[in-house]
Amino acid sequence: MLKVKNICCIGAGYVGGPTMAVIAHKCPDVKVTVVDLNEARIKAWNDKDITKLPIYEPGLENIVKEARDRNLFFSTDVEKAIDEAEMIFISVNTPTKTYGLGKGMAADLKYIELCARQIAAVAKTDKIVVEKSTLPVRTAEAIKNILDNTGNGVKFQILSNPEFLAEGTAVQDLLSPDRVLIGGDLDEEGQVAIQALVDIYANWVDRDKILTTNVWSSELSKLTANAFLAQRVSSINAMSELCEKTGANVNEVAKAIGMDSRIGSKFLKASVGFGGSCFQKDILNLVYIAKSYGLNEVADYWEQVIIMNDHQKRRFAANIVKTLYNTVSGKKIVFLGWAFKKDTNDTRESAAIYVADDLLNEQANIAVYDPKVSQQKILSDLNYLGTRSETENSESVKVYEDPYEICKDAHAIAILTEWDEFKDYDWQRIYDKMKKPAFVFDGRNILDGEKLNKIGFVYKNIGS
Ligand code: NAD
Ligand code: UGA
Repeated sequence: MLKVKNICCIGAGYVGGPTMAVIAHKCPDVKVTVVDLNEARIKAWNDKDITKLPIYEPGLENIVKEARDRNLFFSTDVEKAIDEAEMIFISVNTPTKTYGLGKGMAADLKYIELCARQIAAVAKTDKIVVEKSTLPVRTAEAIKNILDNTGNGVKFQILSNPEFLAEGTAVQDLLSPDRVLIGGDLDEEGQVAIQALVDIYANWVDRDKILTTNVWSSELSKLTANAFLAQRVSSINAMSELCEKTGANVNEVAKAIGMDSRIGSKFLKASVGFGGSCFQKDILNLVYIAKSYGLNEVADYWEQVIIMNDHQKRRFAANIVKTLYNTVSGKKIVFLGWAFKKDTNDTRESAAIYVADDLLNEQANIAVYDPKVSQQKILSDLNYLGTRSETENSESVKVYEDPYEICKDAHAIAILTEWDEFKDYDWQRIYDKMKKPAFVFDGRNILDGEKLNKIGFVYKNIGS
């Protein structure tokens, strides 16, 4: 039996930060050190002002406040943390490749390989290396290859322990996970490593919710879970377009099918399209893996989920243009929300970015209000696309801090994120400030359309 006393996590991002905070919170006798190359990020994790954490997640501040400097540490000293730990989580980013073979599809594993090489270079005692990042199936083989060739006699076990948390509910998901998945080698040493990680989670997760499998099943289950979830969103979004043509209402359809226990009611909310750092990246990765094995039908099947999602974002923007008499040139379009979903400050792959880009191509003036996203982030998201110059973006996109001020003289409002506060606004006050006719395009189906129509708005939602 191996009892882990020292954990290191490489990568202090949306996964590494909250996951390790919860482990430290639930295992006070284990020292947890989260390391990152990004000095600003580590500084923010260590900020005395707890509201300055680099990630916004409900409930996270309290957990960090309690455990930080007790058994939870954030540091840029990667080597020291690796050296001290018996168990090392790799929680670095695995973005879609932007160059070379597999460009635009395959996962870029350079950060993973760098971690493996650094562990190999530093380790003087045996280590359990845990894949926390989402990885292509069989990545553990490559990591093992690097680690087994150090020539210094140190033994490594590689485990796969994918993370299933969703942003905005990360703390809740970590405290009460549907399941924890741990994949490892089937031999005796592999089983000892698996047990060591099971023992960590067993401090707060029921044993029957901790699944153990072989490494490849675990790696592939993570990609499969994200593909299935995203596929449900694309499926309901596909039906939303059909609803708009036929007089059916997608909310009613979703409720009707969701009550079938074989289908289930979750993840059936029609929207402007899914965003986030993972769904698209992981499905593209899956498509790439299938193609690399010559499984073209499998690849095409999953690629359709992305094609549908791109269509949904584009059609939302096109509908705004069409409804505003086929031109938005010089018109003020207000975006309520920029984050890819509510309760997060994360904007990666947010539908808002692509809808804004399409409308800017139509010469719209865009005004954005998001309770958690900064002006700098919004402009850098648009600049990253490279569609137009940074000066043009900053001239056409203005960011406001007041949700009423922003609506003054607006031609239309588009809801891009389902922040709860939008539902409680004084919509009469907003209507009074806008140009008439005043349009609302509800990309999240969160507002009361009947109420808005009564005030005088022209209200358009998704799927009815
Ligand atoms: P992130 O970009 O927020 O964080 C990754 C961090 O790793 C960055 O701060 C980066 O500086 C650091 N890093 C990269 N290389 C490093 C190195 N060699 N040494 C030290 N630090 C290094 O990414 P994330 O959202 O936390 O995602 C991490 C992984 O988890 C990805 O594989 C992702 O697919 C997966 N995942 C993400 C989520 C989510 O909700 N964001 C959920 C489940 C799984
Ligand atoms: C998703 C998965 O839900 C997590 O289990 C997984 O760990 C994570 O990806 C990951 O691997 O990164 P996340 O992207 O944080 O989590 O958030 P989701 O709640 O899944 O939402 C993703 C996108 O789909 C959002 O833009 C959301 O608004 C959209 N969505 C979701 C819908 O449009 N309709 C729905 O019914 C559900």
